Amino acid sequence: MKSNHSTPPDFYTGAPLIPEDLWFREDFVSLLHDELRTAHVILSAPRRTGKTSVMDYLAERPPTGFLSLSVFVQDIEHPADFILLLLDLFHSKHPKPFKALFQKTGSLIAKALSKVSDIEAHGFKLTFRSQDEAWRDHWRQYGDEFFAAARSGQNSILLLVDEFPDMILNLHKHHPETVRPFLAWFRGHRLSPHPMKDKVRWLLCGSVNLSSTLDALNCLDEINDLTDVPLPPLTQEQVVEFVHRMLKERGVIFDREIPSLVAGKIGRPIPVFLQMVTQDLYRIWKRRGTDLVLADVDGAFDDLIVASGARDKLQHYYSRIEQ
Ligand SMILES: Nc1ncnc2c1ncn2[C@@H]1O[C@H](COP(=O)(O)OP(=O)(O)OP(=O)(O)O)[C@@H](O)[C@H]1O
Ligand SMILES: [Mg+2]
Repeated sequence: MKSNHSTPPDFYTGAPLIPEDLWFREDFVSLLHDELRTAHVILSAPRRTGKTSVMDYLAERPPTGFLSLSVFVQDIEHPADFILLLLDLFHSKHPKPFKALFQKTGSLIAKALSKVSDIEAHGFKLTFRSQDEAWRDHWRQYGDEFFAAARSGQNSILLLVDEFPDMILNLHKHHPETVRPFLAWFRGHRLSPHPMKDKVRWLLCGSVNLSSTLDALNCLDEINDLTDVPLPPLTQEQVVEFVHRMLKERGVIFDREIPSLVAGKIGRPIPVFLQMVTQDLYRIWKRRGTDLVLADVDGAFDDLIVASGARDKLQHYYSRIEQ
């Protein structure tokens, strides 16, 4: 995960990191690989701490023998849309295995696949939906077909679902009658076959806490089979290394105490704030053209609080809290 670039990674002040730029998560990714061998997993961590970056890393570099599919489900409002999103993404990302798995099943998925010119003209989703007016009511059937076909192949499939609790909240808001049936159906597929014998493996993740979301909906019992793997916060040493390398590799000359001063001031780090402070230190150095001194760290932290950039980032918290 150490960058192979000759130049250091960009500063990321909001977007997920691309896998080549993801530092400090090697041990955590191998822990996830181990857990996923035998269990379905929920990746838990507070907001803005790097969950999606880790999910993207795993999607690009899944455990050996796994195909990966990564879905972002924040705006999904109905179980049928969730199933169709999985099918559509599977179709576009792994067209050959998808055809091999589904073509001979005699299902509506196979029928849609046979309409090659419709798929070319309108995409898989539309072609599929146009065959069944009541497709939304039949989400369970399509979901079962999905699992049956996915389990019949050579490869294991890792399904990464980001913002899963948001999807449950949306289901509750728009189609409350589907929440418990969906969760119960989903749980049934996670329990049988036993994960160790299942070709399908789930990694769920979300910014809103899943347990409290389901507790509020009285559905907490529907996820107690998932293995909770918390994303560890960055350590003080990692914060020091981050500041040191991001400045040094840009040619910045700085007081050698600056990285540990940042680590001390930031406390339990929220990575996005670490990025913003370090970026600000770099900008101060570039603008002024003289070596960074300890007082510049105070300046960077003051900027973090007042900068409109920081206000934008904090807005994220407000909207999530509201949600
Ligand atoms: N390993 C890391 N090293 C340095 N910064 C990081 C790291 N991981 C994440 N970040 C910082 O956190 C920001 C958010 O990353 P990411 O989107 O992966 O987090 P998230 O937990 O999914 O956020 P959200 O709660 O909004 O979904 C990045 O833009 C970057 O500033
Ligand atoms: Mg995220």
